[in-house]
Amino acid sequence: MTHMALEATQSLEERCNQILRNMEASLTARDRVGIQDFVLLDAYTSESAFLDNLRKRSHENLIYTYIGTLLVSVNPYKDLDIYSKKQMDTYMGVNFFELPPHIYALADNVFRTMQSEVNNHFILISGESGAGKTEASKKILQFYAVSCPSTKLLNNVRDRLLLSNPVLEAFGNAKTLKNDNSSRFGKYMDIQFDHQGGAVGGHILSYLLEKSRVVHQNHGERNFHIFYQLVEGGEEDLLRWLGLERNCQHYSYLVQGGCAKVSSINDKSDWKMVRKALSVIEFSESDIEHLFGIIASVLHLGNIKFDADVRGYASLNNNQEMHWVSKLLGIPIQVLQQGLTHRKIEAKTEEVFSPFSVDHAVYARDALAKAIYGRTFNWLVNKINESLVNKDSSRKTVIGLLDIYGFEVFNVNSFEQFCINYCNEKLQQLFIQLTLKSEQEEYEMEGIEWEPVPFFNNKIICDLVEEKHRGIISLLDEECLRPGEATDLTFLEKMEEKISGHPHFVTHKLADQKTRKTLERGDFRLLHYAGEVTYCVVGFLDKNNDLLYRNGKEVMRQSKNAIIKHCFPSTEPDSKKRPETVVTQFKSSLVGLTEILMSKEPWYVRCIKPNEAKQPGRFDDVLVRHQVKYLGLMEHLRVRRAGFAYRRKYEIFLQRYKPLCPDTWPNWKGTAAEGVLCLIKHLGYKSDEYKMGRTKIFIRHPRTLFATEDAFQVCKHKLATRIQAKYKGYRVKGDYLKQREAATKIETCWRGLLARKEREKRAWAVKVIKKFIKGFMTRNQPANVDNSEYLAYVRQNYITRLRDNLPKTILEKDSWLTPPPIMQEVSQVLKRVYIRLMVRRYVRGITPQRKAQLLLKEQTSSMFKGKKENYPFSVCRPFMETRIAAEDISFKVLQMIRHEHIKYSVPVVKYDRNGFRPRLRQLIFTQEAAYLVEEAKIKQGIDYISLKGVSVSNLSDNFLILHVTCDDIKQKGDLVLQCDYLFEALTKLTLIANKQNCIKVVQGSVRFDIQPGREGFVDFKSGQESMVYRAKNGHLMVESTRTKSR
Ligand SMILES: Nc1ncnc2c1ncn2[C@@H]1O[C@H](COP(=O)(O)OP(=O)(O)O)[C@@H](O)[C@H]1O
Ligand SMILES: [Mg+2]
Repeated sequence: MTHMALEATQSLEERCNQILRNMEASLTARDRVGIQDFVLLDAYTSESAFLDNLRKRSHENLIYTYIGTLLVSVNPYKDLDIYSKKQMDTYMGVNFFELPPHIYALADNVFRTMQSEVNNHFILISGESGAGKTEASKKILQFYAVSCPSTKLLNNVRDRLLLSNPVLEAFGNAKTLKNDNSSRFGKYMDIQFDHQGGAVGGHILSYLLEKSRVVHQNHGERNFHIFYQLVEGGEEDLLRWLGLERNCQHYSYLVQGGCAKVSSINDKSDWKMVRKALSVIEFSESDIEHLFGIIASVLHLGNIKFDADVRGYASLNNNQEMHWVSKLLGIPIQVLQQGLTHRKIEAKTEEVFSPFSVDHAVYARDALAKAIYGRTFNWLVNKINESLVNKDSSRKTVIGLLDIYGFEVFNVNSFEQFCINYCNEKLQQLFIQLTLKSEQEEYEMEGIEWEPVPFFNNKIICDLVEEKHRGIISLLDEECLRPGEATDLTFLEKMEEKISGHPHFVTHKLADQKTRKTLERGDFRLLHYAGEVTYCVVGFLDKNNDLLYRNGKEVMRQSKNAIIKHCFPSTEPDSKKRPETVVTQFKSSLVGLTEILMSKEPWYVRCIKPNEAKQPGRFDDVLVRHQVKYLGLMEHLRVRRAGFAYRRKYEIFLQRYKPLCPDTWPNWKGTAAEGVLCLIKHLGYKSDEYKMGRTKIFIRHPRTLFATEDAFQVCKHKLATRIQAKYKGYRVKGDYLKQREAATKIETCWRGLLARKEREKRAWAVKVIKKFIKGFMTRNQPANVDNSEYLAYVRQNYITRLRDNLPKTILEKDSWLTPPPIMQEVSQVLKRVYIRLMVRRYVRGITPQRKAQLLLKEQTSSMFKGKKENYPFSVCRPFMETRIAAEDISFKVLQMIRHEHIKYSVPVVKYDRNGFRPRLRQLIFTQEAAYLVEEAKIKQGIDYISLKGVSVSNLSDNFLILHVTCDDIKQKGDLVLQCDYLFEALTKLTLIANKQNCIKVVQGSVRFDIQPGREGFVDFKSGQESMVYRAKNGHLMVESTRTKSR
């Protein structure tokens, strides 16, 4: 199995297990902590049941619950371990209802729908301040950042999309009583995807920044984060250049809420983050310089103080702050001074400068600060958009994220709340339209009759606010624009006059007795779809006008600061034509937003804040009930539940429940719809409990579904075991088959290999044999192609054999290996060489003694070889120095011959000359003479000069006759002796006596002198046995056995 395949099966298996686990989890979750989808709530009209479910789940940290595809999210106010990469992976590409509700499931579902249907979507995130909207939008963005395909280019876009957030939050978020990081502007962000799903660009729209915060903060609130970040975190050099001190308490715009420092916010580290983000989203150094120049100049502006001159007009001392503002904005100080203390009035032909009162001057200063900050914020959004723009023009699909302020009710509600709540009315209207529309469309598409749903339509409130000429916005604008004395109170009166009697509008004057008690004179109350809100009219006109005195703008136009220049273009229509009021601008931006949203498919995330204390684990029923109501959750549920509680695509339904019917398990052959029909018939659904749509089954009551689900639960365990067993079997079988296949393969290969080797060997053998035969047949021809190898072989073979069979000694030289014909000559040469070698070796190995002995032997040979019959037997008997040890010779004898050196002695038998009686004697050779000794007597001494010769027979006896010169009659005659060491003794004698030629080998008979003049004879003959006796003729007869020569 390849690595890849292994991985694939592993992840498939893992995935299966995971789904099984999660199914399990989700089913038990249904029993344990409420239900995951409100649509399945039996008492779907009961707010209490709704709250119960939400409470139960949020206590278990199950913060997400569905209403169909809408996601309800309860702020946990603590970090949960549900946003890891692993979680993202779990939710990626998995069926929406397969896993427990999660924001990732929604994000993934949106993304996949966009991919498959190639259309645009938006996710509307709503809820009141601090409910978790911004966090939710970040989670969605992070999910896309991880789940979308990535390339280097796309990563670049991704980083910018992610990092645009901290920048926008720094400039647009602030600590409020409700939320330490409250977004003070509405934000709509488009993420653009190419056809492969890569995020290729983005665009941000911002709505109604709460500018008033720049100059005023309520107790317990702060200005926008960026001011504190700059002061706390800005580098020393930067602060010096901006003329700032590292102390927020010095700046009156930062301290009004009395909480410049908060433990939950780390301005220093946020500053670093923002600096880093700015560089990633392509802000140049000069952009950054100008941007912080502006932020600093706003702080300086806030510290400018006016004195009253003698006439009560505002006057400016040439103080430090003026100097810094002038420097940072690049505006001459006089121009600035004039602009802050005078207004320009245009009379018919001339311009007149009229001085401000101190109050006016402060107002103008604050207006300027707000304008500068507000416009800079817009510039910032545009700048970010430039960096997010996608240059590629091919078709894109879009997912929009709308993180917009939720419905707001404070103790005192003003113009801002009015705008915000109006915005929420508009969104609710959109929501109703889209939800109803989609419900209706779904019924229509599925071919099911539409059953009208009763619900509250808030159009009436929208109309109350925005209707032309009669609506509150029109009336407000009218008051702002009309000449004459218009005040907040005249505006109130106008409303009372024009819209009295409207069921959703009431004022102190219009109210009945009972209600009047709850209203102040300057209040008006709107009955919003989400509840009543009482607004205080004070400041409405001012805030709506948002007037920046005309020369204020003119002053700004002279700025050298590039951003300010850009924000106050000289082409701006001047005050002759009044600029649009704030509320009108807001209204038209909402119209624009509605248009954007209407063209897209909606998805909803409803955020709920469980308590006001930002505390985990607390669930304030009253607070949540209120939110459930104004978020329209019950309404949404009602619409979704109007006809049928549950609907699913046939395929999905069948896939889940098919084990419940034998006909559909394990596989259904027909269409999914037929399968579902078969299945529910088997389960006994009644005809009014369900409807079959075109692609989906609609089930009216949750209990029907739950019964089915319970049945599935029971069956599931059995099923799981079976599936497991099957799967295991399948795995094992698969493994086995694979192994077997592998084994066969290896075997085949191995056999093939062996066979090929064998074949090669045989082919080689045949060749060799053929060659051998041919070589053999042509072996006698001169060397040629055919026989050269054969001959080489023969040669080598002979040489090797020869080597192993060389003669061991020189004596075996004739055992030389017979050579083949071609080696005749070589063999001879070798033989010669080798014999010489052996000889040399032999010769070298010989000792001087042995050499001497051999020389003696040679001597013996020259004397007797071929002459005497028993000579050959003597050859192998080595000669000795002597045959009688010195101590065996009588001392007397030794004394007698002490002047002579004994050379050799040997025992002999001496035959008497007369009677031939044998007598044992010793024969001793000195250098002078030979002595015959009988024990202590020297019987006869023969000096070598008188030794005439020695006779021996040619037969195999051991007789020798020493002939001596015998002149003296008294002298003894020749000696007849028998000696066992005949050859040795004679050889020694010839050598010692130096008589090489004295030996005579005779045949037949030897004459010898008994005495001078008296002769005797010894006759020799061969016989049957050896005998010595005196023959009848008086001769000594020596008979010896004939020996066969060797
Ligand atoms: N899913 C969440 N998990 C943990 N804390 C959250 C979550 N959502 C919100 N919060 C907490 O609530 C605070 C307010 O959330 P935020 O999204 O800024 O509210 P909103 O944008 O609705 O005003 C956050 O700063 C965070 O501390
Ligand atoms: Mg927010």
